[in-house]
Amino acid sequence: MNGKLITFEGIDGSGKSTQIKLISDILHKNNINNIVIREPGGTKISEKIRDILLDNDNTISKYTEALLFLSSRSQLVNEVIKPALDRGCYILCDRYIDSTIAYQGYGRGIDLSQIKVLNDLAIESIYPDITFILDINVNTSLSRRLTKSKDRMEQVNENFLIKVRKAYLKIADDDKKRCIVVDCNNKSIIDINNELVSFMNLRYEGIVQ
Ligand code: ADP
Ligand code: TYD
Repeated sequence: MNGKLITFEGIDGSGKSTQIKLISDILHKNNINNIVIREPGGTKISEKIRDILLDNDNTISKYTEALLFLSSRSQLVNEVIKPALDRGCYILCDRYIDSTIAYQGYGRGIDLSQIKVLNDLAIESIYPDITFILDINVNTSLSRRLTKSKDRMEQVNENFLIKVRKAYLKIADDDKKRCIVVDCNNKSIIDINNELVSFMNLRYEGIVQ
């Protein structure tokens, strides 16, 4: 396996999909084989699980919710991530293990050691090479989502998002080697992108121009 798994984390609206798209385009321009995936989703089964998880008509217990995220992840690892790593591909993944720790662990209150066991089962030792944690304050997150309709996971209050944001900073503090916190408050999309690309260039010895 000589590909790289790079994950992007942060509260809703922190700019993950925007940055992933820009980085993917830059990698393609530099002839670097890469794919973009998102969680939950990325395979036929995982997209069906995503529909269940985000559907406002569903009332889901916290353990069912956690297990569905993990089932989606397990399928994604086997069907997409492992084969792509074997091909030497860079994988840009919108959310991964840390979302379950932050949202289901710190957010919903599921025991963190249980989440760790389940995450380990789902990912079969495929840990991210780098995890970028895009940090924004909760007010920015809430204002960015005012204009769009809320899915089931977005029906949470400000306190829940405050817990999740803090959780990400704790996760980063606990694993400084893997996690890079990027302060995205009051910064333009392009400035944030330059920071991410600079970091990747340092880590991967000038892979992009
Ligand atoms: P996420 O994938 O983390 O939910 P998105 O990339 O979808 O976040 O961004 C949410 C919204 O915020 C989009 O409308 C996007 O254009 C906007 N946005 C992203 N980054 C910034 C930024 N640095 N400054 C202002 N707006 C941003
Ligand atoms: P999505 O629209 O992809 O995220 P975003 O709003 O950041 O663009 O929705 C995924 C939702 O699922 C998001 O609210 C975070 C949540 N989630 C968890 O609670 N646990 C998980 O393990 C994952 C992967 C996501």
